[in-house]
Amino acid sequence: MSAKPLLGPCDSYQLEPFAYEWAWAMARAQENNNWAPEEIAVAPDVADYKNPAVDPKFKHLFESVMAQLTTFDIERGDDAAETFLSVFQPAEIRHFFKRLVWEEGLHTRSYRYVIENLGIPLSIYDTWKTVPAMKERVEMAQKLSEPVLQTIKRQIEGRPYHEMSIAEKQALLRSLVFWFLIFEGVWFWVSLLGPIQQLSRLGFFKGGAEQFSYIARDESNHIGFGVALIREFMAQYPEALTEELLADIDRDTRRAIELEQGYISYCFKDGPILGYSSPDHVATTKFFANMRLGSVGLPQPFEDAYHAFPWMSEQMELKKEKNFFETRVTEYQAGGALSFDDQEEGSSTEQQNPYATCFTANKPAAETPPPLAPVADKQLVEELFPEEDPYFGRHQQPEWDDPLAGLKR
Ligand SMILES: [Fe+2]
Ligand SMILES: [Fe+2]
Repeated sequence: MSAKPLLGPCDSYQLEPFAYEWAWAMARAQENNNWAPEEIAVAPDVADYKNPAVDPKFKHLFESVMAQLTTFDIERGDDAAETFLSVFQPAEIRHFFKRLVWEEGLHTRSYRYVIENLGIPLSIYDTWKTVPAMKERVEMAQKLSEPVLQTIKRQIEGRPYHEMSIAEKQALLRSLVFWFLIFEGVWFWVSLLGPIQQLSRLGFFKGGAEQFSYIARDESNHIGFGVALIREFMAQYPEALTEELLADIDRDTRRAIELEQGYISYCFKDGPILGYSSPDHVATTKFFANMRLGSVGLPQPFEDAYHAFPWMSEQMELKKEKNFFETRVTEYQAGGALSFDDQEEGSSTEQQNPYATCFTANKPAAETPPPLAPVADKQLVEELFPEEDPYFGRHQQPEWDDPLAGLKR
């Protein structure tokens, strides 16, 4: 048993020595992934949304995905704060959860930023209650956390977490598998990278797709953390992993895909869009469910799974590179160019453009900073999956489609 067991006993206020170096490394990697919704260019989305010539199917799809995700991120952040952040005892594990909770809040703000800019009616925030296919998913997630909340209640009444019964550990593990591998790893992931990226490929709501690329990168890291945590939990509390629990997880996964079917049917209620259909979407969620469960050594339930959208990872790569490492540099350079190129001979910068003075006043051209060197993806991957870590020792992750490929043993 670890010197700092996941369920204690250990001192939650004592940070070092670490027992889970990977949790700290992952939280640090997340800090390198800082971004703000205001960096997203939503003007093209506003034009699409207000353009009566844009197919109403596209708008309905976009609104439906946004409606579900606003609820999902609030729910995910709240739940992690109310359950996992309390139950797990080592300080470095809790540290990651604090970052995760903050990021879910950031994602919520990001959706609002797009909704507000597009002028989508505020009734979008009610949608999850009025569309059964969305409500059922929110409720399924809530239900799976109920036993964990009961365990927390017992702890408040005086019984420490390390005295949990086997049934309570099973409920906790079941909840971990659901939230990290199914809720984030399947529901969230495929909805993020599927329909919205396809809309973007067709030339619509490109700002939304850009926003989702930022968010998906956070989510990829959340899922990777979940895989490591679940593996650690299974190693420390093998008594929880019974046939009965495997059957429960299998049932949960099948139910989750059933609900996904209902949700995507609602999104496409007026018919498929070019290059994207409900059956392909569902097969892809099954593919991801198999992959996520396989990443922690659990049985992969679906034989009829396939990945219908191999471009998903390409979209991520393209967007990521543009958004994170090039856009800001380009925009910065464009700002500088405006300041100098627009200046007519004999006139002052102040007369031409008062805002440009912020950047150019008293600054000779020679002092313009050189463009920033792009950060290599490899660097981020190495930070996220440090080599010395036993889980990620041979991690070679070329695609964001499968952030867990290197975790398979
Ligand atoms: Fe999120
Ligand atoms: Fe997340």
